[in-house]
Amino acid sequence: MVLGIESSCDETGAGIVQDGRLLAHVVASSMDEHARFGGVVPEIASRAHLQAFVPVVREALSQAGIRLGQLDAVAVTTGPGLSGALQVGLAGAKTLAYTAGVPLYGVHHLAGHVAADTLEHGPLPEPCVVLIVSGGHTSLLLVRDLVREPILHLGDTLDDAAGECFDKVARILGLPYPGGPAIDGAARTGNPDAIAFPRPLTKGGDDPYAFSFSGLKTAAARWVEQHRLRGEELLIADGAAALQEAVADVLTRKALRACRDHDVRTLIVVGGVAANSRVRALAEQRCAAAGIELRVPSMTLCTDNGAMIAAVGDLLVRSGAEPAPLDVSIDPSAPL
Ligand code: KG4
Ligand code: ZN
Repeated sequence: MVLGIESSCDETGAGIVQDGRLLAHVVASSMDEHARFGGVVPEIASRAHLQAFVPVVREALSQAGIRLGQLDAVAVTTGPGLSGALQVGLAGAKTLAYTAGVPLYGVHHLAGHVAADTLEHGPLPEPCVVLIVSGGHTSLLLVRDLVREPILHLGDTLDDAAGECFDKVARILGLPYPGGPAIDGAARTGNPDAIAFPRPLTKGGDDPYAFSFSGLKTAAARWVEQHRLRGEELLIADGAAALQEAVADVLTRKALRACRDHDVRTLIVVGGVAANSRVRALAEQRCAAAGIELRVPSMTLCTDNGAMIAAVGDLLVRSGAEPAPLDVSIDPSAPL
């Protein structure tokens, strides 16, 4: 039984996994405390982890119906993420591993996002392409063997993450934070073709897997400003629908291109933005047309959590991987 700890951003997560089965899944979020600042404040996140750590772990053990001494290993996110936040999780995980006398495994946060899907849909169909889209990441990954081979990083955002784009444009449109769900809701009655927002980095010659979303924020600000100058009423629903369409189009186009280029038959989409109704619908439509299987875990496993870290820990234990020494440090800007 592996306990997984996640604390790289604003979620304190603890999960327990045994032989690929999820036994416990507990998450405490400090999102509400960051809302009035319009984004995650690292200092507040660290303090919230410190407060939530023990209650979250205790709740996970109770969900699984076990005591600390029954654990076989502890796995923890060592990076990438906010350094203060990561340190709280790592210090806690080391203490638990030392106290329980079990090995500690350091886990790459993105490997966790990939493994989350196995908790619901079974072993990872390898090779697979994984699109991780949240407030912190926009990454396209090629996974050949999650525990034995490094994950191949096909592309990343050059500036803002997709969720960050939703959050920033929502603020421009006067919608609340977090902006993704607000834009998704507002878009329902809007016309996605009302505004021709750009599709960044989709021309031939551009890096096929790189993303750029900061231009969309500028385009949205310009659209709002033009309306204001002309004294026209702002149709928030149209702005939201057009933005969502642009983001969903770019994300799914590039993800499918990655599958095609690498002859991969499975696409996995994870992260908070995987909740977006248009991203989901377009991914389903385009995967079906291309004969590609689409796997999207449930939202509670899609967003940051400890169960996904436990899932990687479980795979590492079963593959006979070396545990981390107890003086292991965090790696806030960990490469893949
Ligand atoms: O994975 P997550 O909970 O946290 C990290 O960023 O790691 O993702 C949060 C992000 C936020 O930017 C939020 O606006 C976005 O996911 N999001 C959405 C939706 N729900 C959450 N974006 C678009 N549409 C949604 N329905
Ligand atoms: Zn994440």
